[in-house]
Amino acid sequence: MTLLVLPAPGAEAAAAGLAGHLQAPLGAVESRRFPDGESYLRLASEVRDADVVVVASLRDPDPQALGLWYLADTARELGARSVGLVAPYLPYMRQDRRFHPGEAITSRTFAEFISQRFDWLVTVDPHLHRIASLAEIYRVPVRAIASAPAIARWVGTQVNRPVIVGPDSESEQWARDVADRIGCPAIVLEKKRLGDRSVEISVPAAEAYADRTPVLIDDIISSARTMAVAVRQVRSAFGSAPVCVGVHAVFAPDALQVLQQAGAARIVTCNTLPHETNAIDVLEDVAAGVRALQEGARGA
Ligand code: R5P
Repeated sequence: MTLLVLPAPGAEAAAAGLAGHLQAPLGAVESRRFPDGESYLRLASEVRDADVVVVASLRDPDPQALGLWYLADTARELGARSVGLVAPYLPYMRQDRRFHPGEAITSRTFAEFISQRFDWLVTVDPHLHRIASLAEIYRVPVRAIASAPAIARWVGTQVNRPVIVGPDSESEQWARDVADRIGCPAIVLEKKRLGDRSVEISVPAAEAYADRTPVLIDDIISSARTMAVAVRQVRSAFGSAPVCVGVHAVFAPDALQVLQQAGAARIVTCNTLPHETNAIDVLEDVAAGVRALQEGARGA
């Protein structure tokens, strides 16, 4: 097996980190835009007979998606034996059904788009809600790496007497997993979404945990409205400012400020998307997922 890690534009740091954990060479990709907006792409490393691992950082997926196709097709055309995709943040997982007549179910279309060009996919905590497993929508082998072990290691060493708080029922899966690994309690709040940037959250009885540090954990911080409303509610219920942990630092332009102004004690995220709040490294676990997939493919 000759692994070669190639960074899609914007994923250079993650690709270098992953190559280090995989002890695999890091290839070079040149890309730029022509004046008319079209893409130029050149693989500056030899890919013949390599099992290529493309690493992509998909915070803003639409401008990147076509480039991923160019990268995968070029690697294949130049003789790569296989081409897999590591997208630590998997976008388009929330529009997983038609909420209103005529809406596109973009989760499915995006999955089809990736499945057509890549041999496998490794990601971290995809937002699975109405879709129970990525295998329902992706036609290629997929590994979903859990961030809970890395988050639990961070919270367990950085926070004194934590109580894990999930801002809504969807976050329960991460909140309870992290709490169980640390051996601390967890509670889950109740959320009602009123619009893209508006949510209402209520807190169940918190008195039992008054002597603990609340740690809010959610998979995605996007507009940060969910986290910001939860911060305010937790502050008034617990009487102390929570630590906020996000798996995927999507962060819309004003989101960090919104969260800081809500009164978070500290804001940290995993390095699935590059952001100034990155403090929790999940790439070692991602590398283990890549190795397991490759070994499965060799054994098949
Ligand atoms: C929702 O289902 C997710 O788990 C997150 O709570 C949500 O995506 C966060 O979005 P925002 O930061 O825009 O409130």
